[in-house]
Amino acid sequence: EKGGWDSYMDKEIHEDPAAVSETLLGRFDAKGTLNLDEVHIDEDVFRQVDKIIVVACGTASYAGLVAKYAIEHWVRIPVEVELAHEFRYRDPILTPRTLVVAISQSGETMDTLMALRHAREQGSRVLAICNTQGSTIPRESDAVLYTHAGPEIAVASTKAFVAQIVAAYLLGLYLAQVKGTMFRDEIRHIVTDLKAMPEKIQWVLDTQADTIAKTAKQMLNAHSFIFLGRHVGYPVALEGALKLKEIAYTFSEGFAAGELKHGPIALVDAGEPVVCIIPSPRGRAVLHSKMLSSIEEVKARGAFTIAVAEEGDESVANYADVTFWRPQCPTLLSPLVDVVPLQLFAMDMSVLKKNDVDKPRNLAKSVTVE
Ligand code: M6R
Repeated sequence: EKGGWDSYMDKEIHEDPAAVSETLLGRFDAKGTLNLDEVHIDEDVFRQVDKIIVVACGTASYAGLVAKYAIEHWVRIPVEVELAHEFRYRDPILTPRTLVVAISQSGETMDTLMALRHAREQGSRVLAICNTQGSTIPRESDAVLYTHAGPEIAVASTKAFVAQIVAAYLLGLYLAQVKGTMFRDEIRHIVTDLKAMPEKIQWVLDTQADTIAKTAKQMLNAHSFIFLGRHVGYPVALEGALKLKEIAYTFSEGFAAGELKHGPIALVDAGEPVVCIIPSPRGRAVLHSKMLSSIEEVKARGAFTIAVAEEGDESVANYADVTFWRPQCPTLLSPLVDVVPLQLFAMDMSVLKKNDVDKPRNLAKSVTVE
């Protein structure tokens, strides 16, 4: 069943490239125009959407947070991302023009299900992004856009995360297409870039595993980890920290790098491991330089710094004790690759600690209670 891999998680991380390519498959016509007829929501309805609220839990909520950056940029409508259990118990503002997007790998998460029921009662349309055919969440939604990551068995979500980002991006590009907020060529360009991502993920798997394994060994006795990111790197930091909590049982927290000086930097002591997601130096210069200042600040306080950075970015060498490299890619697509070394790192830590990688203590694959 594990096909020669040591664990399901190992197998599933190595299926990240396929999860991306399968989720892209068959969603365009010959001209590269996005075709989401499968969602069965009228184009006119999509045209009317004036706000998106993503409801999800855990990793799925981080995929939503990544998508917020892209969709707001492409479609120019507000995108809120809310933990389903919080959404449900406040009094969210929902109208028929609000599109609620419920993201769930299993399709059975009770918190997410309750949130979508609430949204529908209030008259909003719900679109599910789900990996499990025929599960409850898509059944109870107005429409569904399936991720095609294949069955995910390990409790720690990996390939479903990258597939969720892709599906949410397809939704964003589709909205941009029907609302006319982007030129067709721009959309086509991004689609071409998306199609190149599986190969880039594969490169990380093929070339970075040794460095990652070595670093995990070196960090085995660390009591805690700090993850820092900015812009789309922020949800990646949250996801990297969640993976480590879940399967390595190591206290870890992700922060928006800009928050450092508002509190978290007080945690940084000599030897504290800090993982920094460095944006592309070819993207928005301000994002890159701000993130470099953050790594510089923690380094100056004696942190052990681990960077996830773009191949060829020599500027990180001054501040990073270790670098996990990723190939060049556009900023908005970088979470698809940046998360991969963090998945491997958490898995390596878990194995070294002799934990049950696939079935971490106290956790279930789908959380069917509120
Ligand atoms: O099946 P879902 O995507 O709805 O699950 C949501 C979370 O329970 C899930 O992502 C959880 O955080 C994972 N174990 C994280 O690895």
